Amino acid sequence: MPTRRRHPRSLRQDIAASVDLPPSLVPSIARVFDAMESLGSSPRAIVSLLQRHAPPHPRRPLRVLDLACGKGDLAITLARRFAWRVLAIDACPDFITHAQARAARLGVDHLCDFRAAEITSALRPGRGTLAHHTPFDLALMIGLWPTDRAAPLLSRLVRPRGLYLIDDAFAIHENAAERLNTPTLDLALAAIRARGDDVLHAAHTPLPSVRASNARILAHLARNARALARQRPPLRPALAEFLDRQRHASRALERDLRPALVLARRA
Ligand SMILES: C[S@@+](CC[C@H](N)C(=O)[O-])C[C@H]1O[C@@H](n2cnc3c(N)ncnc32)[C@H](O)[C@@H]1O
Repeated sequence: MPTRRRHPRSLRQDIAASVDLPPSLVPSIARVFDAMESLGSSPRAIVSLLQRHAPPHPRRPLRVLDLACGKGDLAITLARRFAWRVLAIDACPDFITHAQARAARLGVDHLCDFRAAEITSALRPGRGTLAHHTPFDLALMIGLWPTDRAAPLLSRLVRPRGLYLIDDAFAIHENAAERLNTPTLDLALAAIRARGDDVLHAAHTPLPSVRASNARILAHLARNARALARQRPPLRPALAEFLDRQRHASRALERDLRPALVLARRA
């Protein structure tokens, strides 16, 4: 049976917008993304980047924050691969329940602390989930806020010389930047450097990898949508709209926009 949770209206809109889902499908989100651990990011690419750039702490495991962790794949991967301690937050309770169960199955629940929380509330001084945890050695935001919003927050949440990593989509040239009101990668990096932080790595994902990943994800989502539509025919129009949005987003990432990983070090 599909999971049916109630979310406050604005939170439902936030969750829906972040995964291009019509809000009416949020109660069925677990089914829509069934059997997909990662919602677009590539934990393998991130692990190899962090392996090169994140120095181990001499006395303790690194303390990591993953904001908008989705189903927790990256947090679990970092715990399994490096034995880092990860606090991972997402607004979608269904995703967090899934992540907690998977971490327990894989024997890393002692390293992963998954919390269902909205980012702004988690930051609330005193009572928010993050109030007693900062600063972190490494903070991640993979596929939620644009870099100009994510970078100042992540930089504030890590210790001096701590690292932060953002996965975002950038305009591939200035014409596209103007038309889509989205910065180029160069412009986003200039803003990070203007804060005094160092950029350790920044690179667009190569187009063939973007195409392959889009095709894989679209095929998977289409299978899930067909299965859900068979069980719940009234959801058909919303599922069709969802798949249209996904195709549109994929086309944009293959034309005028390109994903990139940006790794920076706080001053
Ligand atoms: C595109 S997904 C990325 C998930 C994950 N980082 C990954 O790469 O698999 C965006 C995530 O942001 C979460 N989200 C959206 N708005 C949020 C908010 N205000 N606070 C916390 N999480 C939020 C959604 O629930 C969703 O899991």
